Amino acid sequence: MALFPCSAVPALRFWGLRGARAWTRWPRIPGGGWSVSCFAGASSDTGGGGHGQKKFLLQDIAELIKTRACQRVVVMVGAGISTPSGIPDFRSPGVGYYSILQQYKLPYPEAIFELSFFFHDPKPFFTFAKKLYPGNYRPNATHYFLRLLHEKGLLLRLYTQNIDGLERASGIPDSKLVEAHGSLASATCTTCRRPYPGEDFWADVMVDRVPRCPVCSGVTKPDIVFFGEPLPARFLLHLADFPMADLLLILGTSLEVEPFASLSDAVRSSVPRLLINRDLVGSLARNPRGRDVVQLGDVVHGVKRLVELLGWTDDLQDLIQRETGKVWPAAQSQEGSLLLRGLLDLEQSPVWLTL
Ligand code: APR
Ligand code: ZN
Repeated sequence: MALFPCSAVPALRFWGLRGARAWTRWPRIPGGGWSVSCFAGASSDTGGGGHGQKKFLLQDIAELIKTRACQRVVVMVGAGISTPSGIPDFRSPGVGYYSILQQYKLPYPEAIFELSFFFHDPKPFFTFAKKLYPGNYRPNATHYFLRLLHEKGLLLRLYTQNIDGLERASGIPDSKLVEAHGSLASATCTTCRRPYPGEDFWADVMVDRVPRCPVCSGVTKPDIVFFGEPLPARFLLHLADFPMADLLLILGTSLEVEPFASLSDAVRSSVPRLLINRDLVGSLARNPRGRDVVQLGDVVHGVKRLVELLGWTDDLQDLIQRETGKVWPAAQSQEGSLLLRGLLDLEQSPVWLTL
């Protein structure tokens, strides 16, 4: 199964690593067949309830989580959850990477993640990658909310499109994480396919040198999924997770890229879906369901609202305070210690950690 930008030219996609069932354009992941959801019976597929159903609200989602009526929560996230940490997303006009990268004379923005362009000129990609050097950014309250969901035994799996590693940095275990578009934690030689740990290529990237394999001198590419490349085998966990899910949270994504985007339809129609995002996107816009809840606006504010309804505000602040010393290697610097002190003032002024 390969990564496929909805807007790009038609391309074949291959599922999984076992053989290739080529898909043509607009491949979709079939809807979840069965599930033991926290609701009996199917709901109407029209948005906002239907046939006399009361409108489903954020407090209803909170109630389901609080009472553990739903305890197999699957989460889908995108670049929008990392913007509060200072990492641009891709498609926000003017500020997303696809606007910022225009300076690199790309034929079109997505070319930065296309192998043909990478082999033609890898420099723009490594200039982009340099901005994501691990440790330059830290998780924000959204990441720590997802960690809390795990700590409370409610997170079935977190599917992320992000390659910044902030989900891992917030303490979410590998077993609960599917990095659908790969990560910068490791790399592979594009010629002899030798694997390398991430730290082997960062030294070159940080001094604007294209990293090369010490054995065959081929270009070493971080293990992020370029358009047309197969997704990690772990992505196939969705075949079990989404039909099992009894609640779906979708945070900070445009739902523009397949096959990730169609996961949002892979839960049973009776399963509530909560979108927290600046815009209404994907099938929640095109084909809303009866138990969809949409919280438009800033993701940290939306998460904060849900956390308050859950009564988890103290738990989240304790977690953030506990973790900040561990997560922020910059704490030794003047800026870091100021930030840390600022955080330690958390008791006095419960300012929400967004950076
Ligand atoms: N609060 C709420 N929503 C936000 C915030 C924020 N602070 N910041 C950004 N958003 C929203 C944007 O409005 C947009 O709807 O998050 C979404 C981010 O969308 P994209 O930039 O398209 O990022 P993403 O959905 O992760 O892109 C998917 O595209 O190019 C590929 O591989 C790349 O993984 C990436 C994929
Ligand atoms: Zn090599």
